[in-house]
Amino acid sequence: MKTEEFDVLIVGAGAAGMMCAIEAGKRGRRVLIVDHASAPGEKIRISGGGRCNFTNLGTGPANFLSENPRFATSALRRYSQHDFIALMNRHGVAWHEKTLGQLFCDDSAKQIIRLLTGEMRQAGATLRLSTGVEAVAHQGDGFQCRLSDGGTVRAASLVAATGGKSIPKMGATGWAYDLAAQFGVRVVPTRPALVPLTFEPGLLEQLKPLAGISVDAVVAHGRTRFSEGLLFTHRGLSGPSILQISSYWREGDEVTVAMAPGAEVFETLKAARAENGRQAVHTALGRIIPARLAESIALREGLAGNLADQPDKALRRLDQAVNAWTVKPVGSEGYRTAEVTLGGVDTAALDQRTMAVKAVPGLYVIGEAVDVTGWLGGYNFQWAWSSGWCTGQAC
Ligand code: FDA
Repeated sequence: MKTEEFDVLIVGAGAAGMMCAIEAGKRGRRVLIVDHASAPGEKIRISGGGRCNFTNLGTGPANFLSENPRFATSALRRYSQHDFIALMNRHGVAWHEKTLGQLFCDDSAKQIIRLLTGEMRQAGATLRLSTGVEAVAHQGDGFQCRLSDGGTVRAASLVAATGGKSIPKMGATGWAYDLAAQFGVRVVPTRPALVPLTFEPGLLEQLKPLAGISVDAVVAHGRTRFSEGLLFTHRGLSGPSILQISSYWREGDEVTVAMAPGAEVFETLKAARAENGRQAVHTALGRIIPARLAESIALREGLAGNLADQPDKALRRLDQAVNAWTVKPVGSEGYRTAEVTLGGVDTAALDQRTMAVKAVPGLYVIGEAVDVTGWLGGYNFQWAWSSGWCTGQAC
């Protein structure tokens, strides 16, 4: 097979790679974008329950984790949430704000994939699916890449846009990290993030009957706290507040949960005791939190009797158990269910305006593969759009 010549080879046709292909194509660059999957943008398709939480109105650097928390500032400014919203509007893709600034398609995430593939076509970029890159060599002022279809591509610029390790079943690989290692670029250790947390068997046994119960909670890890839904599962805890805190949690750490934030549990129980002391503790507590949860907490605290039998001290203990429940997860569900990967290619090696690897001219890393990880709520796609757009102006 002969060697094909392109200006830019992008590996990974996800959110970041496609945005980069559009922008580079518009500048007249000859772009080839390859993906080993049989369809582009698979994570876009499944995200947000099929409606893709494509950005967040309030996106700013504070919504991201990275060894360098300021790194994302420039890219997020150069291509902001408002720029992506304008792109959606130009294509007539209807959207709505669900909660906390989170924007979703009214209809289907597939509209975004069609928007991106349409723009790529218009920009003249070539999309090649079911194709991986088996070997990369830096030769002269470009890259010589051997593709899995047996062909070879020469390109002045090589963009790694293969995302993180989350959901290997969907084809996630550590390709960008391996490429970074090949070029001597440090990779910040990776770990699953935005992921449900799990309990040890003893605690799980106690809490098993609660599986399926959800509450609006405040979950804290040190000084970081999130006020969103929490869900008891067969393995431990999930729901948005837990996914958020999982990005900060480390093995051995505790998290503190308020299951009725804003409720004056002690005062309410004291008033209930004065009004009708003959009611069971869990009945009174069940007016503040779901009944099954109330029963479980009263049982765990050994408060099975009537309210009248409970001294203030016992009611304060219940208050603590509801609104300052301290629990130590043993682990997470891992990459199998994690929405994103924390860590990645070290931002110290990259130019913050263009995502270029400073020590290797022509090499770029974008999207989730970089050590920039957003909160839950549309921030990760915004990072993919912003970083992809920036590289598209430069590669
Ligand atoms: P992305 O993973 O999208 O794309 C990488 C591409 O590279 C893939 O197409 C893959 O097939 C390809 N690839 C990988 N290895 C390769 C190799 N070796 N050779 C060739 N191709 C290769 N975020 C958000 O903001 N809002 C949301 O609603 C959601 N929802 C959500 C749900 C679920 C279930 C998951 C798993 C994740 C989310 N996310 C999210 C996170 C979001 O999907 C993620 O951060 C972005 O897709 C990252 O975009 P990238 O383009 O960097 O990688």
